[in-house]
Parts: sequence; structure tokens; C-alpha cells
Amino acid sequence: MSKVIVVIGAQWGDEGKGKIVDLMAERFDVVARYQGGHNAGHSVQVGERSFVLHLIPSGIVHEGKTCVLGNGMVIDPKAFFQEADRLAEQGISVTPARVLISSRAHLILPYHRALDHTSEERLGNERVGTTLRGIGPAYEDKAGRRGIRVADAVVPEVLRSRIERNLEDANRIIEAYGGQALDAAQVFDEMSPLIERLSPFIADTTLFMNRAVREGRSVLIEGAQATLLDVDHGTYPFVTSSCTTAGGACMGTGLAPQRISGVLGIVRTYTTRVGEGPFPTEMLEAEDELGQLIRERGREYGASTGRPRRCGWFDAFATRYAAEINGFDSVALTKLDVLDALDEVKVCVGYRLAGRELESFPAVSKDLRDVEPVYETLPGWKTSTEGVTELDRLPAKARAYVEFISRQIGVPIGIVSTGPERGQTILVRDSALAGWLGD
Ligand code: IMP
Repeated sequence: MSKVIVVIGAQWGDEGKGKIVDLMAERFDVVARYQGGHNAGHSVQVGERSFVLHLIPSGIVHEGKTCVLGNGMVIDPKAFFQEADRLAEQGISVTPARVLISSRAHLILPYHRALDHTSEERLGNERVGTTLRGIGPAYEDKAGRRGIRVADAVVPEVLRSRIERNLEDANRIIEAYGGQALDAAQVFDEMSPLIERLSPFIADTTLFMNRAVREGRSVLIEGAQATLLDVDHGTYPFVTSSCTTAGGACMGTGLAPQRISGVLGIVRTYTTRVGEGPFPTEMLEAEDELGQLIRERGREYGASTGRPRRCGWFDAFATRYAAEINGFDSVALTKLDVLDALDEVKVCVGYRLAGRELESFPAVSKDLRDVEPVYETLPGWKTSTEGVTELDRLPAKARAYVEFISRQIGVPIGIVSTGPERGQTILVRDSALAGWLGD
């Protein structure tokens, strides 16, 4: 039986997926991404070397792994080659033998970036705070059946005529909001050599993935962004434009649901959010200093945009919701060491709205802004957990915090991460995750 594991961020992203996927990737044959684009930023630390990946799956830093950019992704060819060139400078070669791009994936073109800017400007105070990489407009075109797929773009006449057609509409919107219209011929001339360079990477990845599974090769499917940014299940409209949850892994790779053997949730010991949108456990006003402390200790600055991340307490209510939607079998709990300095640690165990405790995660963002988190406070451990590799070496209070989180979200813990490096990890023996890793 082939092993197919999906890894999903449980909160608003930046849970430390990069490190976990990286340490898992060593044990898998294929590592695939299924949604999003270069809005993602996965930081991977391998010994002294650090890599920031946006589009290319984290498996790339391990020799002999095949990396797949699935059909559910939106791909900016310029960003792809910038990343490939940067990796090459770090001694990692991104070749068509190792990296396959789905012929069904959609392209991000320069007018998508311009439209992303326009759309944010139009929204004013209600802007989403996107990464401005053109992700949303590219998915809009996909759903609107105007998108340009990778396979279409290799035929120059098709690429040219689609650009001309799409730019007519795009320019109307861009100009109406004071932007500079784009020239179709220029866009074509910019894209054409990039598409030519992309051609050797293009493959029927649906066929590849299904064949890999049939042949018993192990597959790691790497989510980007995270559950609460899912276009359906997240904090709409403050979300990304793709399906970031476990169900999306089938849609975005062409694997059937029965092929998925397990789902791992990445859960951080506190919460962060970049961009706009409601964030019930955000540390504000009196807790602002605490938020700063966590931001500095946890290096909570966007890997893609450098934006400081908003910091808050662990939200067990939201994470329970994530566990349910994704069907987490196991959880990797990250960044425990960041909380080492705290006197006490709060956990949000429920939401109260207009005096009533809520049964389910609110669908309306105004409600989510108005909810009052119900907290339980646990004592801090005030001892370094950095680099601890055994559960029973954790300070008792830190271990109690880990167990409290696991009980609250109803999922067993497979890994506790105690630092950015691969070795700074506790792998829980007998966990589902240890089984997937063959330990
Ligand atoms: P977009 O994906 O650029 O359209 O941005 C939509 C929302 O998702 C914004 O709030 C972004 O800050 C957020 N977002 C997109 N990618 C990431 C990510 O990799 N980590 C965290 N937030 C993200």
C-alpha cells in the first residue's frame, strides 16, 4: 500500500510547516503542492543553511525526491525561475527530472498582479491585505473560465490571443482605478520566453501522481497557507482564493479521496495572522508588549513579504474546527520554545457572543470580530525547552501545556518542535506520525 500523507496548517498560516515537511520529506519519494502560488513562504533550515521556498515544494532540498506543482496551483513563471535560480546559487538544482508542473495549473500573468493592487485599493478599509502577487485575480479567471492554463500557454497563438482578450477587460478595471494599462504585445513578449523555459517542466501530473501511488511510492502532499484562509471554510472574505484544507489535496492533485492515508495538522503553540481580518485571540493594548516579545522570539515576520505578523494566544476553539474539517490524525505542535519566557500562558477554549457560548465557528466575519474569547490560564514554565528531543525531558508545566492542547483539540500529538532546526524535535513514539515516518 502506498502512503499518501497530507500536511495542513491549522490556523492562519506560518505554523512552521516548512520544517516539518522538510523532516518528513526525507522519508517520502514524491512531495507535491496542490494549491496557492508564490504567496506562500516556507522557511526551511538545514544545518547552517536556510532556504525560503514559495512555489517549489520543500522536498527540493533533498536529493532524489520528485517535486510536483499540482493542477490546483497558480503559477507565476517569473517567480518560479527566480526561485529556481536562487536555489541553484545555494547548490540545489531545479531540473525537469526533479520538478513537474501540471499542464492543468493556471498561470499568473502581470495583469493579475496589477488587478490585485486595484482590488485592494477598491476595498479601502475593508481590504484583505493580500500578498499582492496576483493570486486572487488568477483564481478569479480560472473560475470565470478565462484563465490561461500552462498547457494552453505553450502554443504561442493561443497565449497571444488569450492575453489580448483578457487584457481588454483587465485594463478597463485597472484604468478605472487610476492604474496604468498594460500592453498586450509587451505582456506576450515578457511571457513568451518564460513559457519556453517552462516547457520541459510541464507534465500530466495527475497521471504521474496516480502512477506513483499505484507503484507504491510514498507521497507527501504539502498544503500552503492554512485552514482559516480556505476560501470556503476560512474567515471569508479575509481568506486566500484556494481550497487550503485537506479536501483540496484531491482536487489539486487528481488523487481520489481513498488514496489519502493520513492527515497531519501543523499547530503552533500560539497564533499569528498576516494581513487584515478578525483575530479573536490577538494580543492588543495591554498585551501588546507580550505580542512583541513573541514576534521577536518567534521571528514572526512574513517569509514572502517581510510584514510583521499579528500575534495572539493559542485558539483551541478555532483549532478544533480545523481538526474537524481536515480530519487530523496527528498533530505537529510547533514553536514550544518561543513561549519559554512567559509567566503564564492563556488558551482560548471557547467563544462567547452576546453573552452566549458558541457551538460552532462563526461564518460571519463581524461575529468573529465581536466574539469574546473564553480563556483558561496555565502557568508558564520559565525554563528553556530549546532543542529538547524527548517528551519526558520537557519541564512538567510545558508538558502539561502540550497535553492540554492535545485534549482541547481532540487529536494526539506526533511531534513537538523545540527550535527551528531539524534536530530540535520531539517525535512521540507510537504516534500515527511516527508510523508514517517508519519509526
Ligand atoms: P493572497 O493569498 O495573496 O490573495 O492573500 C490573501 C490572504 O492570505 C492575506 O491575508 C494574506 O496575508 C494571507 N496569506 C497568503 N499567503 C499566506 C501565507 O503563506 N501565510 C500566511 N498568510 C498568507
